[in-house]
Amino acid sequence: MDKPTAETADLRTVHVELGARSYDIFIGHDLISTAGSRIAAIAPCARAAVIADETVFALHGSRLVASLDAAGIGHVTITVPPGESTKCFAELERVTLALIDEHIERGDIVIALGGGVAGDLAGFAAAILRRGVRFVQIPTSLLAQVDSSIGGKTGIDTRQGKNLVGAFHQPSLVLADTALLDTLPERQFRAGYAEVAKYGLLGDAGFFGWLENNAAAIFAGDALARATAIETSCLAKARIVAEDELESGVRALLNLGHTFGHALEAATGYGERLLHGEAISIGMALAFEFSVMHGDCPAADSERAIAHFADVGLPVSLSQVPGELPGAEGLLDLMTQDKKMERGKMTLILAHAIGDAYVARNVDMPTLAAFLKRKRN
Ligand code: GLY
Repeated sequence: MDKPTAETADLRTVHVELGARSYDIFIGHDLISTAGSRIAAIAPCARAAVIADETVFALHGSRLVASLDAAGIGHVTITVPPGESTKCFAELERVTLALIDEHIERGDIVIALGGGVAGDLAGFAAAILRRGVRFVQIPTSLLAQVDSSIGGKTGIDTRQGKNLVGAFHQPSLVLADTALLDTLPERQFRAGYAEVAKYGLLGDAGFFGWLENNAAAIFAGDALARATAIETSCLAKARIVAEDELESGVRALLNLGHTFGHALEAATGYGERLLHGEAISIGMALAFEFSVMHGDCPAADSERAIAHFADVGLPVSLSQVPGELPGAEGLLDLMTQDKKMERGKMTLILAHAIGDAYVARNVDMPTLAAFLKRKRN
């Protein structure tokens, strides 16, 4: 293993404990430059197939390739276009067949370099190639560093909706290089921040308070504040995934705001009009407001959560979605496509307070319809 350089002296490690499928998440500055030696340490003699977002590869690929060369790892690269539409059967087929053409074997390694799209697609290709090869996540967006690269959810979208075809396939290593965030467009960074704040809202009021005090530093690029926010988020996710890998219980809490948010993403076409994190920000605001109206959440907590999102420039209401939106009934219909529906009953993640989310089963549909109608007007 290379000696830590000045850049990696700030290295933080989060362990995801899953028995034989356990792995480490490394968080630090310029980790991409030592990726090769870290990969060689977990997979000596393996070859690597880099599946990379083409924009990210143009910016950072040469440093990854140089580190693989330095570690003596033979490699091939397959680039994929940026954007959610890449998570489709056609791209999965193209990438998987290319991996077979390149003779990537059972003992080799797939490396996902990019945001959530590249990670989900590469992870799924790794899950099905020769019945499963190991993969390494090098997440390059804030959202991927704190959420999608951890926990083994991989997959693609179909015409019916997002992530409807996929597999749980845990990575063998996650390298979250905080320096890569410097080239992330500000809007993408802000959208990823919604998932950071989610961890505070769902289970850690102290972290939410810390974010309120440190958001300005995080957005200004303060390396220490960023690393702390990412590490705390990864620790929260690692704990939840270790407890409930396949989402039969507590992992559902990670979907705070997601049922509302997914409906908004579906209504706006999963694209630039409303980024995932922006949809989740509105979704969390709605989940808190619904928790006040129909649960026991103090209005002050809901107002505080919403104020923080608004302070950092995230949208918090339906009226902030650009362009036309379906009416309340249309939105409710989209919400019923959620994977948490059970025998026609809606499950939502609601909150008793900031830092105390819970799974609400069998949500009363007329009440939800009335709530959406009020919010839509
Ligand atoms: N992003 C939600 C989960 O990984 O469960």
